[in-house]
Amino acid sequence: MTNLIKLHTPELPEVWNYEDSVTKVKQMVFKWRTLTEDMAVELFIARDRLALIGGDRKSDQWNKSSTDKTWTKYCRDIGATRQVVDRWLKDWFIGTERERLIEEGKEVTPPKEVRIIHGDFIDSNVARNSVDLILTDPPYPGEFLHLWSELADFAVKVLKPSGFLVAYSGQYHLPDVLFRLNEFEELSYYWTFCLYHEGLSQIVNARNLMCRWKPIVVYQKLPEKKLENTFPDYIVSEKTEKFGHEWQQSESGAATLVEYFTKEGDTICDPFCGSGTFPYVANKLKRSVIGIDIDEDCVNISKGRFK
Ligand SMILES: C[S@@+](CC[C@H](N)C(=O)[O-])C[C@H]1O[C@@H](n2cnc3c(N)ncnc32)[C@H](O)[C@@H]1O
Repeated sequence: MTNLIKLHTPELPEVWNYEDSVTKVKQMVFKWRTLTEDMAVELFIARDRLALIGGDRKSDQWNKSSTDKTWTKYCRDIGATRQVVDRWLKDWFIGTERERLIEEGKEVTPPKEVRIIHGDFIDSNVARNSVDLILTDPPYPGEFLHLWSELADFAVKVLKPSGFLVAYSGQYHLPDVLFRLNEFEELSYYWTFCLYHEGLSQIVNARNLMCRWKPIVVYQKLPEKKLENTFPDYIVSEKTEKFGHEWQQSESGAATLVEYFTKEGDTICDPFCGSGTFPYVANKLKRSVIGIDIDEDCVNISKGRFK
């Protein structure tokens, strides 16, 4: 949390008074009924000061118990619930941080081994048989299911023989995803990996379940050829900081997959690159990389990762 505060309020007040802060924010809640910049700043300061008062100097750990109690009380005192205030702050931070990242990215030219393309991946001019690995994360909602057929078609075209398609998928439409990929004879089903999200679970109301892992489906362009080394199929992912994209993935999970499926100098393509997590990780691991996204803001955020 301290880092967030530094970004937005470089000058933290030396003296901070609980009662004054509550009164100030209460008035703003009453007046605006929505989070304004002044209110957000005051709340970030309160969060930081309360962490110190609570004796918890590691105020970047949002959920520390000593802080928790004082923060819950503070939220109640300003007339809101803690869940609501946490959500306000998170959305506000992601929104403002995202705008900053977009602007920053416009000025950045990625290194020569990195191509970030703006457009529909179907129309991109990625050369035939030029890619060792497609590592990607298509949108999960049902309305986007058709993209899986287009992705399979793209994979058949651009992958080198025996190249891999490694794609993150939601749980909900998994049978449809597999059905669509299986329709392509040139692609062979290889495996399904489990990406376990440490400390994170998403409530799926429609199924009354807490989802803590994500399937990663792996297909291979023919001819079949097994991986050179033996790897576990269960990957533990660090918690993601979602500043660039609502669906941003963790770097650690992607790094593991890059290392399993490619070697230095190989070419990796992510046709749904979002905030550029996979291109960034692949480049750090000395792979050439092509990232594509249909959303111009995402393209700029992705470029910004190479500053
Ligand atoms: C799930 S997000 C990817 C998030 C990414 N893994 C990250 O860590 O930020 C999917 C992305 O696919 C993009 N997209 C959707 N349809 C596309 C298309 N036809 N061509 C290229 N990109 C597309 C969306 O704009 C979105 O950014």
